[in-house]
Amino acid sequence: MATHARPLAPAPETMDIPPPDILFGRSASMRQVRLKLERIGATNVPVLLTGESGTGKELLARMLHRQSNWAAGPFVKVNCPAIPGTLLESELFGFEKGAFTGAHASKPGRIEQADGGTLFLDEIGELELGLQAKLLQLLQDNCFMRLGGRQEVRAHTRMLCATNRRLQAEVDSGRFRRDLYYRINVVSLEVPPLRDRREDIELLAEYFIKEFSTRFQRPAPPLTPNLLSALQQYGWPGNVRELENMMKRYVVLGAAEELRQQLYLLPRDPQTVAATEPAPDGTLSLKKVTRYAVQELEREIILKTLEANQWNRKRTARALRISYRALLYKLKEAGLPARSSLGEGDAGKEES
Ligand SMILES: Nc1ncnc2c1ncn2[C@@H]1O[C@H](COP(=O)(O)OP(=O)(O)OP(=O)(O)O)[C@@H](O)[C@H]1O
Ligand SMILES: [Mg+2]
Repeated sequence: MATHARPLAPAPETMDIPPPDILFGRSASMRQVRLKLERIGATNVPVLLTGESGTGKELLARMLHRQSNWAAGPFVKVNCPAIPGTLLESELFGFEKGAFTGAHASKPGRIEQADGGTLFLDEIGELELGLQAKLLQLLQDNCFMRLGGRQEVRAHTRMLCATNRRLQAEVDSGRFRRDLYYRINVVSLEVPPLRDRREDIELLAEYFIKEFSTRFQRPAPPLTPNLLSALQQYGWPGNVRELENMMKRYVVLGAAEELRQQLYLLPRDPQTVAATEPAPDGTLSLKKVTRYAVQELEREIILKTLEANQWNRKRTARALRISYRALLYKLKEAGLPARSSLGEGDAGKEES
């Protein structure tokens, strides 16, 4: 009889909040976040979460909901950019029968669904000005109108917003209402990027390996010193989400060595990568792009030569026809480790 592989557990509907020691790690910057979160406690004030994509804004919003007076109520998330402009209004505020073609029956919006709970508006900076005005009214009076409606609807919700844009700049340029900004930003919580909290990488990587090996019923592959050092030196433009996905792949595919090499070859620093993208005014510095491209190429060649010479730096320098000192400098500049610490090749031995 054919044996059937056990199906993988379906992805959970809601995000699991990891235990606090994982969620906050041990970095000083996350300790600040934790302290602020504790101070906000059950106050129910609107909070604006800022930070790059993948830093954990939604997790923290769920945490804020859980510790609030609205915890027994629903947590309703609206991902503003995911819903096209015209639909967003009906999605948020709901509509009455006949409000537009195809509105065969009235429907409550997400705000009504969040009554008695938390409304989490993700990427609030994407909201167009008309909707910003409606939202402001909701925040001021706890009431709003459905699309095509004539009666005001009341809803009491705690509002949490997130953005990975600099909302203050949007306010200054007139794309975001100043009055709304002050209303949603009673308290702001800035979540640091992963590259600024490298002390937490080991803890998080171990946590994800354990989680995914349980979820996928696979043995947990080891977090070798070598791999860990590569993880710690990488720039993480996708932050914790990128680390999480990488560890998922590692649990499924194994291959620590491949992963390590791939990490060294990935562009590291988002700021360096940004140098290759046009500025807001459409200009692009050829000088910067060229410098970046040369650096990346140099990095790749150094890495390959190091690997070919079992990480013996003296031989690598000779092979590249540069001085030993120049190689050490370039390694540092390229964010490459001085040695592979593989335990193979020359890692522990005297170089000759
Ligand atoms: N401190 C953390 N501990 C464990 N997992 C985390 C942590 N921070 C983020 N994650 C995980 O990383 C992923 C991204 O987190 P989240 O969605 O909260 O980020 P975000 O800041 O809202 O990102 P975006 O701006 O792209 O919406 C999630 O799968 C989350 O579970
Ligand atoms: Mg998010």
